[in-house]
Amino acid sequence: MERIGILTGGGDCPGLNPVIRAAVRKGLLEGYEFLGIKDGWKGLVENMTMPLDINVVSGILHKGGTILGTSRTNPYKKEGGLQRVKDNFKKMGLSALIAIGGEDTLGVASKLVDDGLTNIVGVPKTIDNDLSSTDYTFGFDTALNIVTECIDRLHSTAESHHRVIVVEVMGRHAGWIAVEAGIAGGADVTLIPEVPINIEEVCNTVTKRHSRGKNFSIVVVAEGAQFADKGMVLQEQKLDAFGHVRLGGIGEALAGEIEKRTGFETRVSVLGHIQRGGAPTAFDRVLATRLGIKAVELIKGKKFGRMVALQGIKVVDVPLKDAVKELKTVDLELYNIAKVFSL
Ligand code: F6P
Repeated sequence: MERIGILTGGGDCPGLNPVIRAAVRKGLLEGYEFLGIKDGWKGLVENMTMPLDINVVSGILHKGGTILGTSRTNPYKKEGGLQRVKDNFKKMGLSALIAIGGEDTLGVASKLVDDGLTNIVGVPKTIDNDLSSTDYTFGFDTALNIVTECIDRLHSTAESHHRVIVVEVMGRHAGWIAVEAGIAGGADVTLIPEVPINIEEVCNTVTKRHSRGKNFSIVVVAEGAQFADKGMVLQEQKLDAFGHVRLGGIGEALAGEIEKRTGFETRVSVLGHIQRGGAPTAFDRVLATRLGIKAVELIKGKKFGRMVALQGIKVVDVPLKDAVKELKTVDLELYNIAKVFSL
């Protein structure tokens, strides 16, 4: 019986468990057996596995996180990492691997394919929605709904106390969460990594609102957004295994500037990992299920080095290489829709 390994890497994300469940259920019907690889690429480097059968994947559809565990381990940064991955792949008796992850995890998958570990299929996940070749990644819809609800709640306090509230949301390189939650939650200012922050413009918007009697404002800022003024930099931050800065702090810096320049009381709410936790939305459960099933179909058809993707309303497959070549940043047409409400 051929054995498929499954791993989840990078930040956790609502929808990971539904992918695992769907892949296992479909694969069992097709005559495969499965092995769970713990904690992303770390599990392949260190030979850490767990059983993955029909009972293990039962009852996990609605659960956030990942039953397999995850990490930000990059095997290419570990001494002898590539060889260890190849050796353990053999030791585990795998004939194929489903790697579920974002730009980093799938970037490693693509490199491994180039380096001779060919039988890999990728499944895109990230709440940031910034992977190319797919219109949506699961996890994004859940995060978007959580942030929208938080903005609604923060409106109550902003309005009652006549405050400016800065809401810092996730979005490292791309501001999809900020822009869509900004539109859905009725933010007065939306700031994304793709467009440098013009602090004067932000303060003008807030001041103009006050002068027409709206003495509160909601400012949504993606954690990866940066001031246009290069002098206004944040403190140096720690790096993760993929060399990314551990973000956070732009909300605080922005609130300080707004309060200083406008004189209006300004508070910050950093939503952080709340955005990644809890049950996936129905949209994400369905998308994740479709992607998990498609991943097994690719393995059955021996279409390796591919990533499953959503294009329009169809689940298709694309070269892994293309998906990780560059990030999908926010369409400025969408950003301009959010901007209409800043004027
Ligand atoms: O990649 C998804 C993401 O949620 C980013 O928006 C964020 O910068 C990062 O993960 C945070 O990762 P961690 O939980 O490892 O600090």
